[in-house]
Amino acid sequence: MKDWLTVAMPKGRIFTEAAEMLRMAGFELPPEFDDSRKLIIDVPEECFRFILAKPMDVPTYVEYGVADLGIAGKDVMLEEERDVYELLDLQISACYLAVAGLPHTQMNDVAPKIATKYPNVAAAYFREQGEQVEIIKLNGSIELAPLIGLADRIVDIVSTGRTLKENGLIEYEDIVNITSRLIVNPVSYRMKDARISDVVERLTEVIEQEKVVK
Ligand code: PRP
Repeated sequence: MKDWLTVAMPKGRIFTEAAEMLRMAGFELPPEFDDSRKLIIDVPEECFRFILAKPMDVPTYVEYGVADLGIAGKDVMLEEERDVYELLDLQISACYLAVAGLPHTQMNDVAPKIATKYPNVAAAYFREQGEQVEIIKLNGSIELAPLIGLADRIVDIVSTGRTLKENGLIEYEDIVNITSRLIVNPVSYRMKDARISDVVERLTEVIEQEKVVK
């Protein structure tokens, strides 16, 4: 009997690309998969259970083993530092983390304020730069912070660059390139080896095909 696999999917921007990739790998996913408020979707034909989580929480579900596999952005992996293995760079949802702010502004000399959804990544980055900063954790709309004087700079994801541009902000430094990763719980990786290898092989083929197309 085939092992069931539970996969933690990130709700939001990565979801559509990740679902498309699974379909390209030959997994039959029902139409309700794309347009549902359900948080758990079983696909018995494929022996898959999908759980739909907040992107930042995906590695947590995988670390605790309630999901065998997960799809998570590298940004989330760097921020969360969970005890999971990264199996594949899916090369979808490419973007990068950057330091941004208002143009022509110096950072405050004493403990400049940095607003971000990524307090650990931002703290590590400025530590490496030898700069003492105060990190202010926000949960979204980070670009607002320098506009209304909450922070000198932000550390945030840049994808198309539209949010920065439309809010009159500029990039000061790139921190790291980001793509989505397939991650696995270490115990599941041993116990459900055959099924997980099949998923990895099929997704690898899609990644290779996409490279040829590009
Ligand atoms: C993300 C990110 C930026 C924006 C970048 O926010 O935090 O704000 O997207 O994308 P762009 O370069 O294509 O404009 P998201 O839309 O996920 O919402 P949030 O602000 O609530 O985090």
